[in-house]
Amino acid sequence: MQKPFDFVIFGGAGDLALRKLIPAWYRAYREGQMPKGSRIFGTVRRTEQADGYREMVREAAYSYLRDDEIDNETWQEFEACIHGVFINITELDEHWESLAKTLNEGNEERVFYMATPPAVFSACCKNIHDAGMITPTSRVVVEKPLGYDAKSADSINADIAQYFEENAIFRIDHYLGKETVQNLLALRFTNCIFEHLWDSKSIDHVEISISETVGLETRAGFYDDAGALRDMVQNHLMQLLCLVAMEPPSKLNADSIRTEKLKVLDALRPLVGDDVAKNTVRGQYVAGEMGGKKVDGYLDELGKDSNTETFVAIRAHIDNWRWSNVPFYLRTGKRLKQRCAEIIIQYKTPTHHIYPDSAGAMIPNRLVIQLQPDERVQMIVTSNNLEKHDAELVPGVMDLGLTDRYEKFYSDAYKRLMLDAAANNPALFIHRNEVDAAWNWIDPIIEAWQRPENKPKPYESGSWGPKESEDLLRTDGSAWFNAGDNISGEC
Ligand code: BG6
Repeated sequence: MQKPFDFVIFGGAGDLALRKLIPAWYRAYREGQMPKGSRIFGTVRRTEQADGYREMVREAAYSYLRDDEIDNETWQEFEACIHGVFINITELDEHWESLAKTLNEGNEERVFYMATPPAVFSACCKNIHDAGMITPTSRVVVEKPLGYDAKSADSINADIAQYFEENAIFRIDHYLGKETVQNLLALRFTNCIFEHLWDSKSIDHVEISISETVGLETRAGFYDDAGALRDMVQNHLMQLLCLVAMEPPSKLNADSIRTEKLKVLDALRPLVGDDVAKNTVRGQYVAGEMGGKKVDGYLDELGKDSNTETFVAIRAHIDNWRWSNVPFYLRTGKRLKQRCAEIIIQYKTPTHHIYPDSAGAMIPNRLVIQLQPDERVQMIVTSNNLEKHDAELVPGVMDLGLTDRYEKFYSDAYKRLMLDAAANNPALFIHRNEVDAAWNWIDPIIEAWQRPENKPKPYESGSWGPKESEDLLRTDGSAWFNAGDNISGEC
């Protein structure tokens, strides 16, 4: 049985805490996954926020949870575990002392969650240490993006390492907590049919795409400094790439999985100088229409000029035996036509055709692993049209609809990851070396993007991104498989 813990959220009144972390803890509580005696502390910057913390989190959580999840009685019980604490994160004073006292009278198992901008991670960890809060069973969770480039990430990592051992540092990437991402491992490593056909002999190319319909929302300051490459590619997309491309780990534990992921990052062909323009596309959305409504472009939302990209497409190669000459196309963007996160494994077409031309073109198999909006795995296969006398080849779909199958289950990546952090299970968190390796691949791209010819290309809101993104695949004889396309890949 898991021991009760104290969970301290620095940045307790922030968007992440209110929209994701507290609702996720409520779900865990409701499902009996939070050990009795556990406590959640949210630090806030104003005393009145501390006094009204429970009301603040309740109001926020009620607007984010689904109606069928809200149960007032259960919420009231859960609320008793929540405490608002007034603290200035960067200033060690009597408020830190008082929090330390409260913690030291409570649970030995502690998780400190940095739901703050990375600029204060170091100061916060120092104060946690200097206030005497770190027990032998304390862990720290740090949110992405970890740094701005390899150098700044290294410096943050070095600062945190002064106070926490590597095995107590949990670098979170919420995509790793999504159930379908977990299922990707099960799919690959428990089904012979897939693992035996998981290499350049059978696979033509891989697409990993996270499209969003939202724009800047309330995060203008953060987003304009970061851009899509730092916000989405350096972490979420590269982690998905690692899970798709890695060799089978010898065990299902943190060390084995991280070792295999790191090998993929090390084998990524660097994109440097002129390679960057040939293999990447950056875009920025302009005004357009989303769901029948007119929306502003990025610059209007931002209210100033900017070269920040809101869309990225990349052709990557993994230079190892398994993936030789198999392009991995990565794509992400805001204000795209549909919200969808998908991994597409596109198989090769059979080399020997026995059907007459009149039967239609050969349709390559395609494995579609959809992470959202629905969690499903589909295999596109070819069959014969039974209604026709002569052979006619038509695509068919073998569908594992996880959302339909587990209709009562509501996937919450943060719940899963916070429970893992509380239980000291780091398997789904990122090692320092992975962060370094990912930045080392990203940094030269950012550098090359400073050239004037690499300014972001405009794309209309509600489209699938700049036309150059289509061209990137067209030159290889392929096309993006977009959400909403029919199973043969046509819009
Ligand atoms: C976050 C990014 O990490 O992931 C956001 O900072 C993005 O910009 C979000 O919107 C997407 O997450 P999800 O789970 O909604 O696809």
